[in-house]
Amino acid sequence: MPGTGAVPLGLRVLALAALLACSGVRRVRGGGLSNIVVIVTDDQDQNLGGMTPMKKTKSLIGDAGATFVNSFTVTPLCCPSRCSILTGRYPHNHLVRNNSLAGNCSSAAWRGGAEAAAFPVFLSKRRYQTFFAGKYLNQYGLKEAGGVGHVPPGWDQWHALVGNSRYYNYTLSTNGVEEKHGDNYTDDYLTDVIAERALRFLDNRSPQRPFFLMLAPPAPHRPWTAAPQYRTSFGDVKAPRDGSFDKTAKDKHWLLRQPVNPMPDSTVAFLDDAYRRRWQTLLSVDDLVEKLVRKLEELKELNDTYVFFTSDNGYHTGQFSLPIDKRQLYEFDIRTPLLVRGPGVNANVTLKAPVLNIDLAPTFLDIAGVNASALDADGLSFLPLMAPSLRNGSRRPDFLVEHTGEGLSGADPTCPKLGPGLSHCFPDCVCEDSFNNTYACVRTLDGRVDMQYCEFADSESFVEVYDLSSDPHQLENIVKKVDPAVLEKMNRRLIKLQSCQGAGCRALSTSVRVELSGE
Ligand SMILES: *[C@@H]1O[C@H](CO)[C@@H](O)[C@H](O)[C@H]1NC(C)=O
Ligand SMILES: *[C@@H]1O[C@H](CO)[C@@H](O)[C@H](O)[C@H]1NC(C)=O
Ligand SMILES: *[C@@H]1O[C@H](CO)[C@@H](O)[C@H](O)[C@H]1NC(C)=O
Ligand SMILES: *[C@@H]1O[C@H](CO)[C@@H](O)[C@H](O)[C@H]1NC(C)=O
Ligand SMILES: *[C@@H]1O[C@H](CO)[C@@H](O)[C@H](O)[C@H]1NC(C)=O
Ligand SMILES: *[C@@H]1O[C@H](CO)[C@@H](O)[C@H](O)[C@H]1NC(C)=O
Ligand SMILES: *[C@@H]1O[C@H](CO)[C@@H](O)[C@H](O)[C@H]1NC(C)=O
Ligand SMILES: *[C@@H]1O[C@H](CO)[C@@H](O)[C@H](O)[C@H]1NC(C)=O
Ligand SMILES: *[C@@H]1O[C@H](CO)[C@@H](O)[C@H](O)[C@H]1NC(C)=O
Repeated sequence: MPGTGAVPLGLRVLALAALLACSGVRRVRGGGLSNIVVIVTDDQDQNLGGMTPMKKTKSLIGDAGATFVNSFTVTPLCCPSRCSILTGRYPHNHLVRNNSLAGNCSSAAWRGGAEAAAFPVFLSKRRYQTFFAGKYLNQYGLKEAGGVGHVPPGWDQWHALVGNSRYYNYTLSTNGVEEKHGDNYTDDYLTDVIAERALRFLDNRSPQRPFFLMLAPPAPHRPWTAAPQYRTSFGDVKAPRDGSFDKTAKDKHWLLRQPVNPMPDSTVAFLDDAYRRRWQTLLSVDDLVEKLVRKLEELKELNDTYVFFTSDNGYHTGQFSLPIDKRQLYEFDIRTPLLVRGPGVNANVTLKAPVLNIDLAPTFLDIAGVNASALDADGLSFLPLMAPSLRNGSRRPDFLVEHTGEGLSGADPTCPKLGPGLSHCFPDCVCEDSFNNTYACVRTLDGRVDMQYCEFADSESFVEVYDLSSDPHQLENIVKKVDPAVLEKMNRRLIKLQSCQGAGCRALSTSVRVELSGE
């Protein structure tokens, strides 16, 4: 830090004391480290009302802290996104490309490589008591992925779901031991099991050391099984009909030109039902958040704990006539909820600077006082954005979104007539993904410019460009109207972002200083 040497020691100590007094950071534990709790839901959107049913979460975290209105995943698919959360890296650096083993989801290469250097390892070295419960990675615990005996390094207590999200009839790896569950609500409903074990962990913690909890409920992922008391909630709720709902997308890439438009009534009824049931499952997550915050309060740890609430990716229900899924480059799939409360975070603030899922790991390490260069993340700590009295920082001008499309080598059984290369098809042969739905985008959001530039790896080398300041729902692809010089500039920026690594990515993100007053 240039210049620090010139400040007399006494003044520095005074300044530090003042900083601590106003930030509210408690200095009782060895090292004075704050606790961290992070809740990551599965497929919860920000744009289509995904937070609406979560009244207690909004009040207990959002009203007591910061709500990030521009939070994004760098890849809208569960396994790659979760790996970005764990490593702080873009998929082109952690190399987990899709939800299957062959795409590195829980593969031997992941287990022996990026996973062994993910953030929990550093927290553990800082003597954090670490706890995980819920869905980890889609292939986790399967025999081909190392089995339930594989407990990733850095976790003291491990209660991870084998395979993809479910609510009943699942298997957990409980500290490496297989534990089977049936479908008795009281004993088995996964969201409640996660809550109950987290509370027990907190009761039994050592007060001398800080703790880190990561809770990953299955909600609101398929199969959308609500708790019995919530099965009839939101009876009259329907998926929102505004924006791009059931709009044609003839100026978009190949996959988006396939959906049946207008959607048949059966599809609309199906997606309305999914939308309602997603909200029902979130009510149990809202209860989990309440129980957790009350417990932290009871243990007198609440004012020394950062609580993060977010999701792995967004979701769509009927946008551009796509029935239900994620995996698209549009706002509904890449935007995620993000609420944070904790020491130094002012109450009831709305923050506009863009933050990414790759920023979470560096933020946790920043809170834990770990030199973030140890992680070699592509993302940056956003502690300076939410706790400006603790840190100064910068705001990124743009970022990368990348997705490697999933397909099937044979035909999708739901719609065999379409042939190979597609996946997640519905009975009326609308497919949600394909091998050639492989894209990379620059999303610019620097306070003046709000745009997106995307290139596809398909036979048309398709390009999509959106001016989100005038077209927030991305209804018009303006690629043919934009000055070719701008396209060339965006193409060069995309190449830089797609090939960046660690410090190189961080350097691309630090070109603009935060203007705190404007936030
Ligand atoms: C946190 O709460 C505890 C218990 O209520 C209190 O003793 C302590 O002073 C508080 N610390 C801060 C930094 O507000
Ligand atoms: C935050 O704002 C809401 C509504 O504006 C209010 O009800 C709540 O009391 C506020 N919370 C805090 C901690 O200031
Ligand atoms: C999986 O990861 C390994 C090593 O980390 C890498 O060599 C391989 O190319 C990755 N596979 C894919 C499909 O990216
Ligand atoms: C759980 O499995 C049992 C036995 O296979 C089955 O009868 C039951 O319907 C399943 N429950 C749920 C909620 O899927
Ligand atoms: C479900 O579990 C609870 C608590 O263990 C038990 O009291 C109840 O009898 C169980 N219900 C069924 C249907 O097995
Ligand atoms: C963090 O580590 C890097 C590389 O070891 C070093 O260059 C840098 O000075 C360290 N930063 C701090 C704040 O200690
Ligand atoms: C942030 O930077 C300003 C201007 O350089 C400085 O006065 C202030 O003390 C810094 N704040 C923190 C928390 O480092
Ligand atoms: C996942 O990625 C691997 C490696 O590129 C590929 O072989 C496999 O087909 C992909 N899986 C799906 C479902 O697309
Ligand atoms: C994308 O893949 C599908 C299925 O393999 C194929 O039919 C289609 O022509 C491809 N489109 C482009 C633009 O590459």
